[in-house]
Amino acid sequence: MSPTGTDNGNVNGEENQYDKIADGYQTFRKVNPATLIEESTLRGAITPFIKPGVTRVLDLACGTGFWSRKVLEWGAESVVGVDLSAEMVSIARKSTSSDQNIVYRTGDAKTLGLVDLFGEPAPAAEEGEFDVVLAVWLLNYAATKEEQRQMFRTVSSNLKKGGVMVGIAPKPTPLGEIDAWAEKVNREGKTIWGVTANCYERADVPEEGWKCEITGEIEGGKTISFKTFMLGQEIYEEAAKLGRMKGRYEWVKPTMVPEGGLEVRNREFWTEYFRTGPHMGVLVVHKD
Ligand SMILES: C[S@@+](CC[C@H](N)C(=O)[O-])C[C@H]1O[C@@H](n2cnc3c(N)ncnc32)[C@H](O)[C@@H]1O
Repeated sequence: MSPTGTDNGNVNGEENQYDKIADGYQTFRKVNPATLIEESTLRGAITPFIKPGVTRVLDLACGTGFWSRKVLEWGAESVVGVDLSAEMVSIARKSTSSDQNIVYRTGDAKTLGLVDLFGEPAPAAEEGEFDVVLAVWLLNYAATKEEQRQMFRTVSSNLKKGGVMVGIAPKPTPLGEIDAWAEKVNREGKTIWGVTANCYERADVPEEGWKCEITGEIEGGKTISFKTFMLGQEIYEEAAKLGRMKGRYEWVKPTMVPEGGLEVRNREFWTEYFRTGPHMGVLVVHKD
């Protein structure tokens, strides 16, 4: 356990929080309309880097494998999915058929080191085996810039020369605005897509951001909750460079109602979603 108690992907030294909510998270992923907007924005950002039948993807924080299976549909040749939570990995395995070219393993993205195309440790390799690293809702589990640097270092060492990371993280918020942002989400309460954020304490390095608890509605009045870190936009950029992701760095904002969006929510919903600002950004960072 690290001094910050985050070795299990948790805040304040609790047990692995995703082991307890794995089934609920699988449902949340399916039913929450935010998934549609994440899908359309991610797809637009990642598919230019996928060469059908060629591209090898490492999916860090693969969770239940939702995006591992999506990138395969979008043309990737193979995927290695890695997640800290054994329960999430177990659901990912059950949800994936044997003819899908995906292997899953448990591991910590901060300390993973190099892995091969079977997800096995490859400490002797000089270069990474992957063309693309996917990191959907991973970086917000780094408690500090130093932990984010460790995650980016794992990304850069596993990428081939010329490789790229595509991730989703909370909407980028400059450090100068992060206190106002935390106050605003605490004040406003539940969003129109059924998610509440409670930013309850400053981060372990207080000037880097906040610790927040997120509660999301699933079906039948049930909810799931998990704790995460909302660090400032500058922290992400500095950690990427320190973790040797030295190439082009850009945030892609969702701008359009996603395909199928009007089948699940009306026009007013999407107008309000864009008026209040997206909940996330897609981060694209090149290795070189
Ligand atoms: C919000 S879920 C996202 C899962 C998946 N990417 C998705 O979007 O459906 C966050 C995931 O990050 C994993 N996680 C947190 N810290 C991690 C770490 N240090 N290394 C690997 N996975 C981690 C959790 O176990 C959890 O499955």
